[in-house]
Amino acid sequence: MIELKRISKWVNVGGKPNFILKDINLEIREGEFVSIMGPSGSGKSSLLNVIGMLDDASEGEYYFLSQAVHTLKEKQRSQLYKQYIGFVFQAYHLIDELTVYENIETPLIYQNIKSSERQAMVADILDRFQIVGKKGLFPTQLSGGQQQLVGIARALIGKPKLLLADEPTGNLNSKQGEEIMELFKQLNNEGVTIIQVTHSEKNAAYGSRIINLLDGRIDNNI
Ligand SMILES: Nc1ncnc2c1ncn2[C@@H]1O[C@H](COP(=O)(O)OP(=O)(O)OP(=O)(O)O)[C@@H](O)[C@H]1O
Ligand SMILES: [Mg+2]
Repeated sequence: MIELKRISKWVNVGGKPNFILKDINLEIREGEFVSIMGPSGSGKSSLLNVIGMLDDASEGEYYFLSQAVHTLKEKQRSQLYKQYIGFVFQAYHLIDELTVYENIETPLIYQNIKSSERQAMVADILDRFQIVGKKGLFPTQLSGGQQQLVGIARALIGKPKLLLADEPTGNLNSKQGEEIMELFKQLNNEGVTIIQVTHSEKNAAYGSRIINLLDGRIDNNI
């Protein structure tokens, strides 16, 4: 499903390249549940953003479902993203001007799903996440954990083939965190490919493979 070939990403600092990702080669098959681990600053979010097509690599090739993402124009990439990918952001990225309901509904509007169907799908997920009572509130009126749940609901509502989640349980209590991991496991059993970033060994154990990053490289020595 995913193939990264010699992916590097750098920023120029004082005329010198400062590597954020270096020479990443990675293959992920459809149906896998992969955890990315590594110290803070090792490039986990940067790698997830490249895989999620939110960011470009500086060099290298990226194939997603046999399409050469590195050659696509912005518009084609964003279409691919909207069709196949759900993304849970480390910092939620909810739209402050929209209510909880509207935030969760947004991906369905992009997918041209009709209004009555959208309503049913949003109602369903609000119920599943036990946040029905919050649907009319704005993100700033929610706790961190509640915002995280809304972010996860928004990522899942469009039934993505690939779910990318950056520290999805970082702000949840342990019971909520376990519920989300159980939900991910269930989705994975239903065929959704999952890549999560986590600092937690326990969360990583829900997946079937761990990728360790160190200083922007895949570390095979752990
Ligand atoms: N746009 C950017 N410009 C300059 N440096 C960047 C940029 N984005 C990321 N970096 C740097 O790249 C490195 C990796 O950042 P990244 O956010 O991917 O780390 P991370 O592994 O997700 O860390 P954390 O666990 O703290 O979330 C950091 O040193 C960061 O400062
Ligand atoms: Mg990060």
